[in-house]
Amino acid sequence: MADDKNKKSPVMDSEIFYPSKEIIENAHIKDYESMYKYSIENREKFWAEQADNLEWFKKWDKVFDASEAPFYKWYTGGKINIVHNAIDRHLKSWRRNKIAIIWEGEPGDVRTLSYHALDREVSRFANILKSMGVVKGNIVTVYMPQIPELAIAMLACAKIGAAHSVVYGGFSIEALAERIKDANSRILITADGGFRRGKATDLKGIANDAMKRSPTIEVCITVKRTGKEVYMESGRDFWFHELMSLPIANPKCDTEVMDAEDLLFLLYSSGTTGQPKGLVHTHGGYAVFTSTTHKFVFDIKDEDRWWCAADPGWITGHSYIVYGPLINGSTIIMYEGAPNHPYPNRWWQMIEKYGINILYTSPTAIRGLMRFGEAWPNRHDLSSLRLLGSVGEPINPEAWRWYHRVIGKGKCPIMDTWWQTETGGFMITPFPVTPLKPGSVTKPFFGNEVAVVDDDGNEMPAGEEGKLVIKSPWPGMARTIYGDSERFREVYWDDYKKQGWYKTGDSARIDEDGYVWVIGRIDDVIKVSGYRLGTAEIESALVSHEQVTEAAAITLPHEIKGNAIHVYVILRDGVTGNPDLVEALKKHVRNEIGPIAVPETVTFADKLPKTRSGKIMRRVLKARALGQDEGDLSTLEE
Ligand code: WT7
Repeated sequence: MADDKNKKSPVMDSEIFYPSKEIIENAHIKDYESMYKYSIENREKFWAEQADNLEWFKKWDKVFDASEAPFYKWYTGGKINIVHNAIDRHLKSWRRNKIAIIWEGEPGDVRTLSYHALDREVSRFANILKSMGVVKGNIVTVYMPQIPELAIAMLACAKIGAAHSVVYGGFSIEALAERIKDANSRILITADGGFRRGKATDLKGIANDAMKRSPTIEVCITVKRTGKEVYMESGRDFWFHELMSLPIANPKCDTEVMDAEDLLFLLYSSGTTGQPKGLVHTHGGYAVFTSTTHKFVFDIKDEDRWWCAADPGWITGHSYIVYGPLINGSTIIMYEGAPNHPYPNRWWQMIEKYGINILYTSPTAIRGLMRFGEAWPNRHDLSSLRLLGSVGEPINPEAWRWYHRVIGKGKCPIMDTWWQTETGGFMITPFPVTPLKPGSVTKPFFGNEVAVVDDDGNEMPAGEEGKLVIKSPWPGMARTIYGDSERFREVYWDDYKKQGWYKTGDSARIDEDGYVWVIGRIDDVIKVSGYRLGTAEIESALVSHEQVTEAAAITLPHEIKGNAIHVYVILRDGVTGNPDLVEALKKHVRNEIGPIAVPETVTFADKLPKTRSGKIMRRVLKARALGQDEGDLSTLEE
């Protein structure tokens, strides 16, 4: 993406979509500009006012503490627990009986949990965890399909002061083992599987293999979802439902009092090296940031039914399926399976059936559903929809227009939210009242100042591409990389140390109206179907295959996935490439990382273009594959 440097976005400054009078009249934020100005001029005051919407066991002493920059702290001295805000406080009002979660499994089974019922389940499981010796500060690894127990497990950990590390259910053996090891987890929570496109996935099988590589795990708790037969090791493995039927699974459990800066969760994300980074998020600032952004950007009202169709295994699910919406007392929709199973109308059916008001999804899902044509959505009554959202990668204007016209019937503004695992929540995003330009993430959220700059930090003229930076700290920001603070400083803060700016790793342009247009990643991080992967992770997986000595991974544009992975491999001496080996390598990557990392093509090569210092020049491979100019080759080794 960053390779098409000199091409201006064809849609920049073209059509503008204005919100209706009705949308503006009902919006929480009617005048973005003045509120924005206020939030920048009174940043700490603004964030103190937002924090006042939550319940604190003890108020903070200081809103913001920069004494150990770039390891910023928020609400220091404050005592809180995010679960107290996401569940406990709702039990004191009429929301006790409000539906918290409407969940639908892929086979069509349905479960609903009121806030009262959610509290009981979370408390019961929290008591089980305690009986297993889980204490404040422990990190529990969670590897599950999208079922209510996933949210219950996360909330139960947080309730008793333990942290969770959720590993996306699409990841495989090595990826899971690596994350368990980094977090030093004693406990793993998983399921026998989940349903995806009519088939049962083999989560427990993968978990069993990962545990062979993870000596720290002492206890594994498995939810029975598919009923598929799985291997259970006595003394280590316990069934969730059996534990939950013990007297110890008492539905009353005190919520632990936490410091605002105490660890809430780790979430691993890809960077430029093969080793994923465990980003650290904390109770106080994250609770304030996710709930505030969710409420203002999606105009959340008590009567809304909110559907974030992401997987809880990614930050989108943490912030906007579980924490932000529950803190706001919303009714959330969860769906287990694939959008096109059994037919491509599955999502539209869901919207009609549950009267969903807001749908938040990714460009890749929209493109995937667009492919089946508008007859599928047109069969359903989608009139309950009021707002739409997009996240994960730049949305191409064509998909934007389809989403707006066919799904939103031309009346639902699209909130194209830019953010990252590191930011915890929305950073650049429209509000319902913002005039929209398809493909632009529009303007910064409150309290946030961004710029597009060159390597020295000079702002680029309007319309020119540069590096996207964030100029000042915000409450939802990751506090560090677990166990590697040096890397945190180096990756995000060293490039613009003088200015104290956060480097996002994205390139972007800002147009004359101050609208931000994100172009894509500039580092070796890639986005495939909106999922974030490192080229280095894919390359290490390939090199771990016995026939491979070297590998390079690049992405090329793909109609549905946005980007698709293509790899080049050098084989061991004496081995020759053939179609069977291509299949074997794809399977190997699937086993090590997961289906999302499987390359589209595998090309056998004798040599890879490298710099004199030995770095693979992926840019050259990409230019060649696209038949483009290879650019500056002066550092290329002969
Ligand atoms: C990267 C972060 C945060 C939720 C999911 C992704 C890209 C994210 C947008 C958007 C253009 C976007 C960026 C960013 N990205 N949202 N609306 N428009 N690009 O979190 O996996 O940490 O990935 O996703 O490149 O750096 P993540």
